Amino acid sequence: MNTNTPQTHGQTAPQSDSLTQDELKTLVGQAALQYVVRGELVGVGTGSTVNKFIDALATIKDQIPGAVSSSVASTERLLALGIPVFDANQVERLSVYIDGADEIDHQGHMVKGGGAALTREKIVAALSDKFVCIADESKLVNVLGAFPLPVEVIPMATARVVRQFAALGGQAVVRHKNGQPLVTDNGQHIVDVVGLKIHDPLAFEAEVSQWPGVVTVGVFAFQRAQVCLLGTAQGVKTLNF
Ligand code: 5RP
Repeated sequence: MNTNTPQTHGQTAPQSDSLTQDELKTLVGQAALQYVVRGELVGVGTGSTVNKFIDALATIKDQIPGAVSSSVASTERLLALGIPVFDANQVERLSVYIDGADEIDHQGHMVKGGGAALTREKIVAALSDKFVCIADESKLVNVLGAFPLPVEVIPMATARVVRQFAALGGQAVVRHKNGQPLVTDNGQHIVDVVGLKIHDPLAFEAEVSQWPGVVTVGVFAFQRAQVCLLGTAQGVKTLNF
């Protein structure tokens, strides 16, 4: 958990008691409802914070036609709550995409992919006019790179991609689940990279995205957030970028 101080230019809803991380996630998940355009589809991310948003979304499900989902896990949760899920190819644009982040900086650039859903998340974000990030305050950083950077790779490229990160000073390891390399919703692998400080997220994303075998790098600079609803001890703080 980092201890960066949140920006002060946002609006804060007052909150008296100290809240658990889970309660902060619930708060921001509920706060995100104000950005859902009634009568329109909404883009839905992935993760424990988004799960709170999906639960909140179920309370207004009669006011929207449905959602475009960024993962099998979110699709299953949406459907279980009676929210129709549409294929991204059926949609030309979305007014808003709601998702969490592993890190977000003071310009709205993010590291994402802790839940291995980064590729579909970036696709749905790219379809959307506005990215609203929901996160607790431990995610706010001055410079991206404290959280291991997820990168989805085609398995035959893994060793070469690991060497390319080593040349940049990073150490990349293949993510495992149950003793096996984790397989994403897209049938690929994830490497997590530590030891990098990402001072120029746009340039970094542009460069790594071109490496052969890289499906998606978990830096979201081209698809950065325009809004962050940050759960803090003082309540939900709204950061506009
Ligand atoms: C999944 C993601 C998530 O948004 C990110 O990992 C944050 O998750 P959580 O809300 O559980 O902290 O990028 O691929």
